[in-house]
Amino acid sequence: MEEIDEMLETAQMFYDGKEDYKRLTGKIACNLFFEPSTRTQYSFQIAEEKLEMKVISFNKKSSSIKKNESFFDTVKTFDSFGIDLLIIRSLQNEYYKELAGKIKTKVINAGDGTSNHPTQSLLDILTIKQEFGFIKGLKILMVGDILHSRVAHSNLKIMKRLGAKVFISGPNEYLEKDAIFIPLEDGLLSCDVVIMLRVQFERHDKKFNMSFQEYNEKFGINSKNIGFMKKNSIIMHPGPVNRNVEISDNLVECEKSRILKQVKNGVFVRMAVIEYLLRNK
Ligand code: CP
Repeated sequence: MEEIDEMLETAQMFYDGKEDYKRLTGKIACNLFFEPSTRTQYSFQIAEEKLEMKVISFNKKSSSIKKNESFFDTVKTFDSFGIDLLIIRSLQNEYYKELAGKIKTKVINAGDGTSNHPTQSLLDILTIKQEFGFIKGLKILMVGDILHSRVAHSNLKIMKRLGAKVFISGPNEYLEKDAIFIPLEDGLLSCDVVIMLRVQFERHDKKFNMSFQEYNEKFGINSKNIGFMKKNSIIMHPGPVNRNVEISDNLVECEKSRILKQVKNGVFVRMAVIEYLLRNK
């Protein structure tokens, strides 16, 4: 918990433009993204460049993955280059277990399958703290495809640990059994933070058998139900947004939305995590 507080404080310092931090000039980061990404991949790159690191971005399509080299051997290869930091996103849940004790380079998890997305959770928490000043006691609702969402899984763990009351809502087939369900309308009426989650079409075994309009009416934020939300409550979404599915197009940048603030915070949180890991190296 102290580690989280420390990283969030550093992230806020970066956000506020305070310049009294140690640069990581010349240290080398490799961004190994085995799954597509815009926000996480490029915010890590910007964070690394702000810290004056050298950045190597891995291109899966032109790598020896194309010659059937495994994930493990690819990571071992980068480890052998003698670099300082690996940022890894993989479609494999808990990929880091395979690497533990077998590589020397420090690793930051940029998302593993449907399991975890820790830096997204940190930037979500920073965004909420900037809004309310605290996390403990807040009511936080996550809505949508909880089952396939690594963001939801990380947030459920970390936000509960920080003392928030976390609820979920969405279609039955996308819910987690061990989280507290609340009907969407009740959640909108009572919660301080509403985190909409992307429907992860690419991870579904079964065909999505609902029109986008029906999903938006039943499980999305739309012009009819946004009025149920509490006066000072906010809407978040980790992105990318399926417009007119999780959230109506005209509400993506509405007054309650903090979606682009989350993106902005992503850079500062990732600077803080990198700085924390490499500070004494
Ligand atoms: N939130 C998030 O992980 O977005 P990207 O997939 O674009 O990195």
